[in-house]
Amino acid sequence: MKDIVIKYQEVEDFSLLSDLDRELMKKAKDIANTAYSPYSEFNVGAALFLENNKFVVGNNQENSSFPCGICAERVALFAAGTNYPNVLIKKIAITAMSKHFNLENPVGPCGLCRQVLIEYEDKQSSDIEVLLFNSERLIKLNNAKDLLPLFFTENKLKRI
Ligand code: THU
Repeated sequence: MKDIVIKYQEVEDFSLLSDLDRELMKKAKDIANTAYSPYSEFNVGAALFLENNKFVVGNNQENSSFPCGICAERVALFAAGTNYPNVLIKKIAITAMSKHFNLENPVGPCGLCRQVLIEYEDKQSSDIEVLLFNSERLIKLNNAKDLLPLFFTENKLKRI
């Protein structure tokens, strides 16, 4: 048997973080507040920091036809892919808030969002740092690939 080891950092004292990380986290939290989530009442916010020093944010957008909805992470990533197609994504911060659910632990992105995040990371050949946080705690991973071991990439689609 082989092991897959994932390294992450846990931070409880947010004053130890860089100003940039704190700013990014604030943007994720602020944008979570305005999510359109009338069905789940589960608000998620995602904020990206790009190499050109721009921030791109997204929140979840739901629909009465449930499958039409989309997660905060993909809203932010697709907006960056559209508006800044050739600019490196350096970091993503993700947070969730809800009156109805227990958010004792930072929320991790869903499987679809992990796949999308990894595609962007792969495309730019440069790590995207991932910050998952709630009011108490931050979990920081060095790259998106660590979130999805044995992931699928476009090179699997290359014809032989
Ligand atoms: N959601 C996100 O925005 N990101 C995730 O990674 C997980 C789930 C949204 C989708 C839906 O609007 C609500 O949270 C409940 O699943």
